[in-house]
Amino acid sequence: MVKHSLRVLFVCLGNIIRSPLAARLFEREVKQRGLDGKYEADAAGTADYHVGQEPDPRMLRTAARRGFNYTHRGRQIEPNDLDEFDLIIPMDLENKADVEALVRKADQQAKIHLLREFDPDAQGAVAVPDPWYGGPSGFEDVYDIIERSVRSLLDTLESGDAA
Ligand code: 4NP
Repeated sequence: MVKHSLRVLFVCLGNIIRSPLAARLFEREVKQRGLDGKYEADAAGTADYHVGQEPDPRMLRTAARRGFNYTHRGRQIEPNDLDEFDLIIPMDLENKADVEALVRKADQQAKIHLLREFDPDAQGAVAVPDPWYGGPSGFEDVYDIIERSVRSLLDTLESGDAA
């Protein structure tokens, strides 16, 4: 029997800063652990402002300084994504509410989990902050949050006690 991969969709507002980084770092983590084929990741935005665009250059620079280069093309989440993906991971409460507005079937709601539910160092924070209007340190902080959270998400999935 062919077992298909677990599909994870990371969701933010613009799909140019937080969710593309999350998807690509999750994929890197999967590869580094030799788990290729077991997981697939993608990213989408709740808004359509940046459809077709590459990731924000500020986050690309932050990642490149740490030796990580990646790419993505912005796309907006669509209702079908809630069927196509096994897990939907919004970055903040607003993204989560916007995804939940697309829920049409009972099983779809159970797929939705905030990324910081998996952050071992969340200290009560529920959101990955939106760095759009912040200074450069916002990008560094967001990178760190996303990197450790996707690692921990994969730990959780691999330990078998995920959703
Ligand atoms: P993201 O960040 O949701 O992490 O991609 C943002 C990108 C663009 C905007 C806001 C947040 N914007 O207002 O265009």
